Amino acid sequence: MGNIKVHELIETRWSPRAYLTKDVENEKLHRIFEASRRAPSAMNEQPWRYVVGLKKDEQVWKSIADTLNEGNQIWAQHAPVLILTLAKKHYTRNGAENTSRNYDLGQSVAYLSIQATNEGLFLHQMGGFSREKAIENLQIPEEFEPVTVIALGYKGDLNTLPLNLQEREKQMINRLPLSELVFSNWGKNFLL
Ligand SMILES: Cc1cc2nc3c(=O)[nH]c(=O)nc-3n(C[C@H](O)[C@H](O)[C@H](O)COP(=O)(O)O)c2cc1C
Repeated sequence: MGNIKVHELIETRWSPRAYLTKDVENEKLHRIFEASRRAPSAMNEQPWRYVVGLKKDEQVWKSIADTLNEGNQIWAQHAPVLILTLAKKHYTRNGAENTSRNYDLGQSVAYLSIQATNEGLFLHQMGGFSREKAIENLQIPEEFEPVTVIALGYKGDLNTLPLNLQEREKQMINRLPLSELVFSNWGKNFLL
């Protein structure tokens, strides 16, 4: 994507839908969550929380898989790890609403993604799931809101996907040009 070189881990990361059934090693899981823990957050609140379902252990994995929309379930059902991400609604120190919680969770997931890439893993974030089901299935306390589900694992063979998804995987993922994103003054290009 583009000719400007960025870090190899950033170049390598993308969100596949085909995963191997191979389990993810515990040490790798440990390291990706360690990376997620080190992200910055407003007031150092660290409002991110993760519930990890391993397919081999069935119960939690199934509880998370059950929340996914049909369109996501069709491919995510093969991922060996499903992770529910949550954000804590209020600051622990004073009870005020934490309006940065999703921003902070997103940064934590970005750290996790980059470490996962370094481990040879891929992940695919999903907003298409039922928050209500997640709360019910996993008995999530009122203070925490489900934000996304992440499928994680080793990249699998494209041919294992239904044909329509195979086509989608082959499409180039476009990004907006920097000229539409970065300004020196509102609407005026910063980068030439
Ligand atoms: C918050 C969020 C929600 C997403 N929800 C879904 C989803 O429900 N289903 C899906 O297939 N992809 C989902 N995606 C993946 C995006 O479509 C994908 O990241 C984007 O197209 C860029 O592609 P790339 O990650 O391969 O670079 C989601 C990504 C994010 C960050």
